[in-house]
Amino acid sequence: MHEITRRLVEFWRDDAKAEGMVPLHAPVFRGNEAAYVKDCIDTGWVSSVGAYVDRFEAMLAEATGVAHAVAVVNGTAALQVCLHLAGVRPGHEVVVPSLTFVATANAVSHCGAACRFIDVEERTLGLDPVRLDAHLTRHKDRPIKAVVVMHAFGQPADLDGLAEVCARHGVALVEDAAESLGSLYKGRHTGNHGLVASLSFNGNKIVTTGGGGAILTNDAALAKRAKHLTTTAKLPHPFRFDHDEVGWNYRLPNLNAALGCAQMEVLAEYVEHKRRLAERYDAAFAGLDGVRIFRETAEVRSNYWLTALLLDRPDRALIERVIEEASAVGIQCRPLWTPMHRLAMYGDCPRDALPVTESVADRLISLPSSPR
Ligand SMILES: Cc1ncc(COP(=O)(O)O)c(C=O)c1O
Repeated sequence: MHEITRRLVEFWRDDAKAEGMVPLHAPVFRGNEAAYVKDCIDTGWVSSVGAYVDRFEAMLAEATGVAHAVAVVNGTAALQVCLHLAGVRPGHEVVVPSLTFVATANAVSHCGAACRFIDVEERTLGLDPVRLDAHLTRHKDRPIKAVVVMHAFGQPADLDGLAEVCARHGVALVEDAAESLGSLYKGRHTGNHGLVASLSFNGNKIVTTGGGGAILTNDAALAKRAKHLTTTAKLPHPFRFDHDEVGWNYRLPNLNAALGCAQMEVLAEYVEHKRRLAERYDAAFAGLDGVRIFRETAEVRSNYWLTALLLDRPDRALIERVIEEASAVGIQCRPLWTPMHRLAMYGDCPRDALPVTESVADRLISLPSSPR
């Protein structure tokens, strides 16, 4: 057994013994979840409207400090609508990191637009503002409408740097904050730094609605439009079915929002758990040559959605060995997502050199990070 696996096994010994396995990320329901979901069933309000949807949106706005939140079916749909709100249409191009989950690039494709990949910074794993600036300068003749920053593993990217570059080039900044609910950049919650932002409440996120997402914006007109577009563009009326454009049915059911309300009540506690877990991992791997825990930069407060272990040097074989050895004793670890430019459907997209992405793809292991 490799020393990395041995330390992981030691770290999780009691849990693995007590529960048989240690998942990468499992949801925790210890509060009002059952009561709120039962309330939906008892009252019959299980579907696309209901008091929990409104309450969930208000809780999101309060927790993030963003003026408006619109709940939707999932994070991919949320990001697609964010891009639409930013004016992205067929034929346009959007700059995204290649180091991301596939949903970021898919949302661009669902708008009929094409991705352009640029590299991330090693210290944040988020888009590199210097490379972004150079790219937008070099390609100012291209129909680039937006830039999507993704806060990887909950660690906020350099939002000031990216916002400044985007403003200078007249390109919308959109935050894919799917992984960073509870994360702050210079004291301000992620999702507050661009035109619009998206969240995900998939079962593996810090808080979950089963499946769900949200659009965040400080612009009242955009929020109104987001609600309208995601609720079939129906004109308000007690009984008429009039719709004024082709909208989407992306509404989050009340049942899911009920779960979300209960989860939001414990968000701050879960962030604390995860931050403590990252510290404990840091201590557990301290002194082991060639590896380190990926830690937050000075200007942010990360939710540590997933704690990641970074090898000093790329070693795909070692990553797979550790994942397989850990799996054999019930400890679930994962590699980084295959970078977007290596996937068949995105292999032809224009891209810059991606040295950090290429390197990190063969250096990172996500460690078990449930909020319990
Ligand atoms: C970075 C990122 N973007 C988007 C998504 C999409 O969210 P969803 O699964 O809710 O569609 C996820 C997670 O699933 C994600 O990690």
